[in-house]
Amino acid sequence: MQFADFWYTVALSEQLQPNKVLARTVLGEWLAIFRGEDGQPVALRDRCLHRSSRLSTGKVCAGALQCPYHGWVYDENGKVIAVPSEGEDFKPSQQRQAKRYATKEQDGYIYVRLAETPREEFQPFSMPHYGEAGWETVRVINRFANNVTNCAENFIDIPHTAFVHPGVFRTSRQQKLEMTVERENGAVLVEYRHETSNLGWYSRFLNRESAEIQHCDRFYMPNITSVEYHMGRDRHLFITSQSIPETDNSTLVYTDVTYNYGIWNKLARPLVWWTAQHIIRQDIEILGIQGEAIAKYGTQFSNTPADTIHVFVESIITAISRREDPRLLPNQSVKVRFWV
Ligand code: FES
Ligand SMILES: [Fe+2]
Repeated sequence: MQFADFWYTVALSEQLQPNKVLARTVLGEWLAIFRGEDGQPVALRDRCLHRSSRLSTGKVCAGALQCPYHGWVYDENGKVIAVPSEGEDFKPSQQRQAKRYATKEQDGYIYVRLAETPREEFQPFSMPHYGEAGWETVRVINRFANNVTNCAENFIDIPHTAFVHPGVFRTSRQQKLEMTVERENGAVLVEYRHETSNLGWYSRFLNRESAEIQHCDRFYMPNITSVEYHMGRDRHLFITSQSIPETDNSTLVYTDVTYNYGIWNKLARPLVWWTAQHIIRQDIEILGIQGEAIAKYGTQFSNTPADTIHVFVESIITAISRREDPRLLPNQSVKVRFWV
């Protein structure tokens, strides 16, 4: 197994308008993304076969992509279908074939897979309740100057919330929380017990019935995190993040906040958007600082029991980087208490 075997988001469906080309980077590979004549997404290596200009700076016309330098035209298979300087002498040739990657469109996202012949056919992660009646989704996209591991770990790390997001998310109160952390089948599943209503500005709205709070966090290989809160009727919330590896210290994160707040669904949208961006901006700052220190001094971490989630996430990502299958790691389940 390798990272290239998985599907990575490269755009929202609505960002990829016909006649538009987008430049993206996934696992260090440059991609030019556009829609072919039939509307299906196309991903080509972002380099012209002629003299190496970037195709993503070109134009799309009738589902074909034209290089801006000397006008070579590529169809949806990456085949060169016109070379202006050859005029009438132009003949299509097998040699003139840009590298093309598999694409998919699902849940309002465009996905690309870099491996041509993966050992196993994975599917893009299915975004919970996306497009379902009674559910709203707010989507935000942010770039972090850090790697996927540290981003994913941050998104399901509770102890930082009181320090990085004071007030808005949690306040430091030294309350005891308990969690069960399980590693199984390439995933880390965390269930919290005695979750308190120390949930920041919106805790009164979110937990109006003072119901028992169900809180689960999850990581799915290689790059998905999901935070779920359920606080009684019409108060159900998922924050699902897809962390896309651009380079070793740049990660583009697509975050879906998908919620069911009953009659408040539509009204809540601007507030959900603003809060998500506010919290994510704070994480971008701290993860940028962490990324700089790791680049200089490496990752000699000192773990506490509360970091069990991180250790499990790292074991899964490390297995893939060694081309092993993390689903073969032994199942583990650990009960941990910590204070926040
Ligand atoms: S470099 Fe693309 S057409 Fe010449
Ligand atoms: Fe955070």
